Amino acid sequence: MAAIGSAVGLGNIWRFPYVAYKNGGGAFLIPYFVALFTVGIPLLIAEYSVGSMFRKSAPMAMRSIHRKVEWVGWWGVFSAFLIAIYYSVLMAWCLCYLFHSFGLVWQPDASSFFFNDFLKAGTSLSLGGGINMQIVFALLAIWTSIYLILYKGVKSIGKVVAITVPLPTILLLILTVRGLTLPGASMGLEFYLAPDFSKLSMPSVWLAAYAQIFFSLSLAQGIMIVYASFLKKGSDINNNAFITALADGGTAFLAGFAVFAVLGYLAYQTGMPMEEVAGGGIGLAFITYPTAIAKMPILASFFGVIFFMALLTFGIDSAFSMVEAITNGMKDKFGVSREKITLIICIMGFLLGLLLVPGSGIHWIEIMDHFVSNFALVFIGLLECLVFGYVLGGERIRKYANDVSDIRVGRWFSIMLKLFAPIVLISIAAASLVELMVNGYGNYPSWSILLAGMIVAASFITAIVFARLKCREEQ
Ligand code: PFF
Repeated sequence: MAAIGSAVGLGNIWRFPYVAYKNGGGAFLIPYFVALFTVGIPLLIAEYSVGSMFRKSAPMAMRSIHRKVEWVGWWGVFSAFLIAIYYSVLMAWCLCYLFHSFGLVWQPDASSFFFNDFLKAGTSLSLGGGINMQIVFALLAIWTSIYLILYKGVKSIGKVVAITVPLPTILLLILTVRGLTLPGASMGLEFYLAPDFSKLSMPSVWLAAYAQIFFSLSLAQGIMIVYASFLKKGSDINNNAFITALADGGTAFLAGFAVFAVLGYLAYQTGMPMEEVAGGGIGLAFITYPTAIAKMPILASFFGVIFFMALLTFGIDSAFSMVEAITNGMKDKFGVSREKITLIICIMGFLLGLLLVPGSGIHWIEIMDHFVSNFALVFIGLLECLVFGYVLGGERIRKYANDVSDIRVGRWFSIMLKLFAPIVLISIAAASLVELMVNGYGNYPSWSILLAGMIVAASFITAIVFARLKCREEQ
């Protein structure tokens, strides 16, 4: 349940629809499902197996596989922390919007409200722009909740996910039904599902699909490893991996219906073409969707509250899973107490998140999301495939997982892990790097891309340093 909670998050409702839109609409489902079956599920099985085999957090499990690869585990958990920093800011926005839904205060112009009144954004990327204290308090509330849920450990996590997994799913279903019964919904769905096959020849579209799978399944960040380390010995692995993956993919697919049906309604109401209405990006959840909600014939505020409540409850278990990965790594290696390290990480997350609160923050969130998920995660995923496939042994993992599972996976599993995944991940990462160098990223200046690259590089270097530090037993 906690693994599903981690997997299903803002990535499914906020990220998937806009990434799908940017990368060919319905045609994106092809690379998405190819990525799910060729890398997502095999790596999920491998991560569950490694967690359950070594019963340790990612860095120390990696160390047990081979001392020289401990840094891969650290790099994963540091990337999770980088994601947690901006993920919690997005959640803080959702919390503010939950309250704004009561008065539908973003009317009449949701875009101007979002950028000018809410974010106080300027056009510049430099720190500055105004600071909205509401967001600061909301961010504090999010980090406080994460701390309160985590400091006691697995038992309270279990209680929280028993609510935060089913509740938002029900809310999403309500939104989907509401969306589908609005006039114009079919136009939105056609736009969501109608494929633009020409996009399939672009490497960046495939990279986006693999990155979305890594992000959405919370892979390559040590999360699934640490969660599996809490399982009882002999717990089923393959079944759990399929359930997690299908619940995650299914929720993303469903969220697409909820989002695009409502966008279709907006196009119908305003007479604007779908392309303009769905003008993707981060703003989809904070501009377009609220605009459409405000136009609903009845109970508009109610649906606004449901939408942001769904985002918050979907997001919270993903957010704390990222923190779990890093705190357990520190606890295992240095023997620090759970309470203490959780507090330190939560305070750091809050303070670093403050850097993203000023008006320019939205641009940095977009840049960081792009670079950490598209490059760092894909790269760490690749390293994991190599370590699991060759150092630990793909067949050994397969045997271990099959021994405890109802569903048995065939040899395809090792082939994916050892050959297919590495080849695909290397080729798309290289092709996309070339694409990035030739075309840049969006309209962002090259210094901002360089800075994002440096942040990723810094997490890599810190990982190497941490791997070299002495463990508790060696001190
Ligand atoms: N899987 C989460 C989502 O789709 O929203 C996001 C996420 C969770 C990303 C945990 C990274 C992570 F470590």
